[in-house]
Amino acid sequence: MNAPFLTSALYDRVRHVIPKAAWLTFEDDIAAILELKRQRNAVVLAHNYQTPEIFHCVADIVGDSLALARQAIDVEADVILLAGVHFMAETAKLLNPNKTVLIPDTEAGCSLAESITSDDVALLRQAHPGVPIVTYVNTSAAVKAASDICCTSGNARQVVESLGVPRVLMIPDEYLARNVARETDVEIIAWHGRCEVHERFSVDDINELRESHPGITVLAHPECPPEVVAAADFSGSTAGLSDFVARERPPRVVLLTECSMSDNIAIHYPDVDFIRPCNLCPHMKRITLRNIRKALEENRHEVTLDPATAVAARRSIERMLAV
Ligand code: 13P
Ligand code: SF4
Repeated sequence: MNAPFLTSALYDRVRHVIPKAAWLTFEDDIAAILELKRQRNAVVLAHNYQTPEIFHCVADIVGDSLALARQAIDVEADVILLAGVHFMAETAKLLNPNKTVLIPDTEAGCSLAESITSDDVALLRQAHPGVPIVTYVNTSAAVKAASDICCTSGNARQVVESLGVPRVLMIPDEYLARNVARETDVEIIAWHGRCEVHERFSVDDINELRESHPGITVLAHPECPPEVVAAADFSGSTAGLSDFVARERPPRVVLLTECSMSDNIAIHYPDVDFIRPCNLCPHMKRITLRNIRKALEENRHEVTLDPATAVAARRSIERMLAV
């Protein structure tokens, strides 16, 4: 496919958030990726934090962690390329053991996934016998394998309450755990992991925003500190924040989350004024058009899992998906 054709077909989608000069550096890679996807029978799954040229121009399936996990099950392609961070690619592989799953950069990690090991989970089990372990999907397959059930920010409360017990361990995100604890009668025992992106938002940020932009609607991801979530107007997963904007059409809004979220949503709602103090996730930003292209050209980097770990981790994910 020739690049100038793409300019007219795709640039219109993203022109409000991608300057023409930047677009000119993207179109060759976009054309190559679209052709490689066709040749290799590949699909690109992209998280909501991917940049607009990835999210709107080469992705086949987009969404929050829950949607990507759910939709990974139905993928019929031979190759899944995950434009997101490593735990998301592992989840896609768990759910598609016979498919090739690629991640363009193996260093695309997550501070939450780094905060806990399967040995830590074993020690927690010993310290709290009989208490179920609810594990955020932002973890390694080994940690999921050592857990009872997974959750995402989109279903954490439902998962906790589905267990029908008075007390659960919720790992590894301390803030997500404390935010869920505010909404449920189930006692939550938390771990001390933090998202390095969301922990930086503060109540002072919200107060300043409300002062400088009267009437602004403040949306916060539940990985933000509980006092930030309490001071916001609404909290939800990345899909929850996007749905809120679609439903409520606030005239002016700020999303206390990763920067690409606002860019990706703003494309659909030119009538909404997005105010953008935001924080970049350095891990998500390791994924680029260039390394997506290379990954498809050179079949790199293939996600592989120890079979026993994969079976146990898949059980935790499937239990979650059944809730
Ligand atoms: P979501 O599941 O809400 O998309 O969150 C994933 C994530 O990594 C947020 O930082
Ligand atoms: Fe992990 Fe935070 Fe980046 Fe999400 S935004 S991938 S939780 S470091």
